[in-house]
Amino acid sequence: MAKNPSFTCTACGAHSTKWSGRCDSCGQWNSIIEERPLSSGPASKSLGTRRGASVTLSDLGTQESPPPRSESGLNELDRVLGGGLVPASAILVGGDPGIGKSTLLLQATAAFARKGMKTIYVSGEEASAQIRMRAARLNLMDAPVQIAAETNLRDILTTLEAERPGLVIIDSIQTMWADNVESAPGSVSQVRAAAHELTSFAKRMGISVILVGHVTKDGQIAGPRVVEHMVDTVLYFEGERGHQFRILRAVKNRFGPADEIGVFEMTGSGLAEVTNPSALFLSERGDPSPGSAVFAGIEGTRPLLVEFQALVAPSSLSQPRRTVVGWDGGRLSMILAVLEARCGIPFAGLDVYLNVAGGMKISEPAADLAVAAALLSAREDTSLPTDTVIFGEISLSGALRAASQGENRLKEAQKLGFTSAIIPSGGKSVDIPGLSLNRFGDLTGFVGDMFGA
Ligand code: TYD
Ligand code: MG
Repeated sequence: MAKNPSFTCTACGAHSTKWSGRCDSCGQWNSIIEERPLSSGPASKSLGTRRGASVTLSDLGTQESPPPRSESGLNELDRVLGGGLVPASAILVGGDPGIGKSTLLLQATAAFARKGMKTIYVSGEEASAQIRMRAARLNLMDAPVQIAAETNLRDILTTLEAERPGLVIIDSIQTMWADNVESAPGSVSQVRAAAHELTSFAKRMGISVILVGHVTKDGQIAGPRVVEHMVDTVLYFEGERGHQFRILRAVKNRFGPADEIGVFEMTGSGLAEVTNPSALFLSERGDPSPGSAVFAGIEGTRPLLVEFQALVAPSSLSQPRRTVVGWDGGRLSMILAVLEARCGIPFAGLDVYLNVAGGMKISEPAADLAVAAALLSAREDTSLPTDTVIFGEISLSGALRAASQGENRLKEAQKLGFTSAIIPSGGKSVDIPGLSLNRFGDLTGFVGDMFGA
C-alpha cells in the first residue's frame, strides 16, 4: 500500500494531512514540510504475541542503591548535569552553530575518558583528521577517546554494540541518517528517528548518550520539540558572539535541578571553567555611572551578581523604542507602567534601552527592583552607589516582594566586597556582617529615598 505523504510542523512536530502556511497547533509560520511517514510493519488488527514485561515497584526496592554518577572533573559541567553523569542517561546539548558545542563536548569526552570511562566521540560534521587537529589544539591528544567520523545510524549502533562504551557523543543529531527513513538527513523524521533509535538503544545497553543539536534562528532545537521529550536532560550552550563567556544551562533535567548554569570562558586552548562567575560578570565595571545597577541573582543553586545597564534618552519617534537584551521585554514594559502609575514617573516620549552586561540572560522576577533602579538612575542621570546590590520583585500595586534565597544573595555580595544592599522589607531577617541593609516595603518608598522623587 502506497503511503500518503503527511505534513509535519518543524517547530512543534504536529502532523496534518495538508500543507498550510501556518501551523494550527503552535501558530508558527512557514514551518510545515512534507514528509513520508515512518515505515513500519504491515498493520495488523490482532494483538502482538510478545508481552511487555512489568515489575511490581516493591520488588525493585530490594535492589542496591542506583549506580553512582560519574564525574568528569569539569565541575561546571558536573554541576549542570546534577552532580555528574547518570549511567544510561540521554542528554541533548543545544546551541547556535559556532558557539562551541563540539569544543565543549570533546573536552568533556576527554575528561571522562581520563577518569577511566570508555568513550566514543562520533562526529557527522568533521573528518577524523579535523577532530585530531582540534584535540591537539585543546591539549587532549593523550586522552584515550575513540573517534569516529560517521553518519549512518546503523553503522553507529553496530559499533556501539561491539564496543560497549560508557558514553557516546553524537555530534550532531541533525547529521545522522537512518536508512529505513525515506527523508533527507536533518529533516524532522530523520532527526526524530535517529534520536529515538539512539536513546532507546543506549538505554537498553546501559550507555549514556549525549546528542548535540543545532538551534534554529528563533532559538529552538532544529527538528521537532519531541527530541527534547525523548531525552532525560536538555542543556543549552549559549553566549553572545562578542563575549568570551559561554553558559551551559539546564532547561530540563530528570536527575537534577533545572535552571542550573555552568560558566565557561573561551580561550585559545578551549573552554576554561569559571569558578567565580560573579567576579567575571562584574569585572568590566568601572567608575559609578548613571543607569548601572548590580543585581544579586540566583542561577540554579548558585548566587550570581550581574550588572543591569539602562539608557533613557528623548525619542524622536512617535512610538518610543523599548530595546532589551538579556531580560524579558514584557517585564520591562510592566516595570515602566508601575513606575508611571504608582510613582508618577512617566517614560512617555523617551527611548529606553536595557542590557545585561556580559551577555548573560536573566529571567528571575527578583531582578525587577534592580531594573527599576537602573531605569531611574538613567532617567535622572544620577549614579547609584557602586558598593550596593539590589534585588526584589515588584508587584503591579508597586509593593515589593521578598525574593527566595535572600541570604545566599547577600552573602555572595559581601564576599565580592559590596557593603550595602537594597532589598524588600518582607522576608526573613538576616544579618550579614559588613553589609548594611536598606529595606523598602514599596517602590514609592524606594524611589523617594534614592532619587528624592
Ligand atoms: P565549535 O566548538 O566548532 O562550535 P560548534 O560545535 O558549536 O559549532 O567552535 C567554534 C569555533 O570557535 C572553532 O573554530 C573553535 C573556536 N573556539 C575557540 O577557539 N576556543 C574556545 O574555547 C571555543 C569554545 C571555541
Ligand atoms: Mg560542531
